[in-house]
Amino acid sequence: MTAKKLFTLAVAAINVLCVMSQPRLRADNVDEVLQAMTLDEKCHLLLGCGMHFNDDAKFPGTAGSSYAVPRLGIPSIYCADGQQGLRMSATRPWDHRDYLTTDFPASMTVASTWDCEAAYAVGKAIGNEVKEYGLDWILAPSMNLMRSPLCGRNHEYYSEDPLLSGMIAAGYVQGVQSEGVAATPKHFVANNQETNRNNNDARVSQRALRELYLRAFEVVVKKGQPWTIMTSYNKLNGTYTLENSELLNTVVRKEWGWKGMFVSDWNAGQNPVLSMKAGNDMLQPGQDRQYKAIYEAVESGRLPMAVLDANVRRVLRLIVKTHSFAQYPYQSQPDLQQHADVVRRVAADGMVLLKNNHETLPLSQGRIALFGNTSYELISGGSGFGGMSTGHYTVSLVEGLRAAGFTVNEQLLKTYSQYLRQANAQLFPHGKPAFTLAPPARPEEMKLSDSLLTQSARDADVAVFTIGRKSGEATDRPKTDFYLTAAEKESLHLLSQSFHKAGKKVVVLLDICSPVDVTSWQDDADAILCTWQGGQEMGFAVADVLSGKVNPSGKLSMTFERSYGDAYADRNFPSEVDDKTLGSMFMWGNNDQQAQPRELQKDIDFTNYDEDIYVGYRYFDSFGKPVAYPFGYGLSYTTFDYSDMKVKKEGGNYSVAVTVENTGKRPGRNVVELFVAAPDSRRLNKPEKELRAFAKTRLLAPGERQTVEMTVTAADLASFNEKKSAWVTDAGVYRFLVCSSAEKVEAQANVRVDKYVAKVHNVLKPKVRLDLLHR
Ligand code: BGC
Repeated sequence: MTAKKLFTLAVAAINVLCVMSQPRLRADNVDEVLQAMTLDEKCHLLLGCGMHFNDDAKFPGTAGSSYAVPRLGIPSIYCADGQQGLRMSATRPWDHRDYLTTDFPASMTVASTWDCEAAYAVGKAIGNEVKEYGLDWILAPSMNLMRSPLCGRNHEYYSEDPLLSGMIAAGYVQGVQSEGVAATPKHFVANNQETNRNNNDARVSQRALRELYLRAFEVVVKKGQPWTIMTSYNKLNGTYTLENSELLNTVVRKEWGWKGMFVSDWNAGQNPVLSMKAGNDMLQPGQDRQYKAIYEAVESGRLPMAVLDANVRRVLRLIVKTHSFAQYPYQSQPDLQQHADVVRRVAADGMVLLKNNHETLPLSQGRIALFGNTSYELISGGSGFGGMSTGHYTVSLVEGLRAAGFTVNEQLLKTYSQYLRQANAQLFPHGKPAFTLAPPARPEEMKLSDSLLTQSARDADVAVFTIGRKSGEATDRPKTDFYLTAAEKESLHLLSQSFHKAGKKVVVLLDICSPVDVTSWQDDADAILCTWQGGQEMGFAVADVLSGKVNPSGKLSMTFERSYGDAYADRNFPSEVDDKTLGSMFMWGNNDQQAQPRELQKDIDFTNYDEDIYVGYRYFDSFGKPVAYPFGYGLSYTTFDYSDMKVKKEGGNYSVAVTVENTGKRPGRNVVELFVAAPDSRRLNKPEKELRAFAKTRLLAPGERQTVEMTVTAADLASFNEKKSAWVTDAGVYRFLVCSSAEKVEAQANVRVDKYVAKVHNVLKPKVRLDLLHR
């Protein structure tokens, strides 16, 4: 054998030995694999591999993935939006199959059930689709607080209250993760407007942060144990959230004890090295400039390897939990029928009955005159990445009502269908766009002719008029969208006159993404049902409630104010900004530098949260301001009685029991809301009362009773004291109030509460002086 051949053989043998001695990733050797990784591999693992919108991706139409390092047995893992269901293209060019996913109810619908098990069922079904289609990780739940009714992503969010938001999100997370799929609560934190979302600086007091905005996430972290959390686009008190070590490392990791992985929102932030230092482990969808910056910072010693290793370790710990790592043999055949049943049930359970004069609802079988464009074009959810890809269906109201045994007025069906065909053709001469972030334009409300009104009032037993509002990502709703248009008001008023003249009733359905004005028109309606947006089975679910097959048990998760501007927070919200580009996500990185230099504008470049802790009912209730419908409100077709309220003190916990009885004639479920009012709340600048626990009964037959129990800890009752940097519950007699809405107390007890103090870090201070509202 020649020397040359010998040398080649020796090199090959060394290579084989090297490969054999390389560790391969397992759940118990993460550190060993980390040690074996090169700097290049580490930098890659911390960045996404781009978006997978194109047809040639493994999962077309999904949001992204992580890098694989095959030599160390590290696979790619795959993530997708979103909130209302797995967002993925329904077709693939290389095979003839359909890859259909389920369109679930929008989040505010889920929250309005006040039922953590409903949220769990939705999360579990979504998690199952993610798993069965071969992905690992869903970019949901979105759970920013509904600080304004105009926020463009309210359809993706749960509530104005942090406890309700956190608990519903925790149900969703537990459901997703029960399928071995990672959930991602987002957008952490204070991403409460879409206008200029990549650069807006949310200026928030430490107290409001702790009691409201962080609180919702604290609840989901502690109860739901999510595997990942997504940071937001905005700045918080001057610093991008993903570049803020106080926020991620000090509060979430040190104080809350969370061990998961932070991922950025897509193309968020400015300085990738700061993100790594702050503990934002993965930057999605990944940019070359980020790779370069991180690599160079480590090489030059500006970014310690130990910091980078901590980030990589958290990514690896996520990877070993996933289905891709376990090579789950997915078949792309989830049980879509079973998931459709979940949609229908949760959509109906989330509907809120706002008004029902003289038992207008439920409707007995009969002839329905359907009015309003939205009656013929239901809005099943919002637009943007929280909405669904094309390919899913929405059961129409006509189909739902017919299946429930109602007759739908044919003349109206024909007239509206013709009108909408023409109006849509004019709005979209080239067909409706497949995807938009902001909601696409909708046809102007059809005008009603006298003959159509007279004829339908004669031929039908009842009129149903649907009002629709759609919101979407990257733009907030303009103030005008809160109100009905002149054409909507006129149609409703005219049909109400004709039907009432004929001795017939008028039902209004609100197929809306967030509260709208009801004060100016509600006298025209005998009943108002807020259907919210119910996903693909919406037509069936609405018919279930209208017919009485389902007795409504939803409660409002957000206050309906009388006019826009009534809430203190409305003063600092971009309600009149018309520049749609301000919300764009396509400001690829380096956000600040790409924005045009200009004088900082209020509510665009920065938003002062001057209302402080007085968001939603905390404001209306504490300052005695009237509302159209309060937080927690919702009627039923039956009635409930509350008795035997008892509070037991066990250690630092207070357990509250109350018996609920169905005193009406129909079976129904009821939500029990426990608010607590602190003594001397005015002097201490505390809200009048705050939601501290809630429960939902099972379906109670007429005359049936159920005792529900809720537990409140001493910590739950604390307020944040900025001077002491501590959670403090003052000793005293507190009123525990069992309520059926923020305005209606059903039973109460006085409870002596002991002092409680828990010190935390003095972090996240605003850099400017805020003009905070005080009671
Ligand atoms: C949204 C996120 C979403 C991401 C990936 C962003 O525009 O804010 O909610 O998960 O895109 O699609």
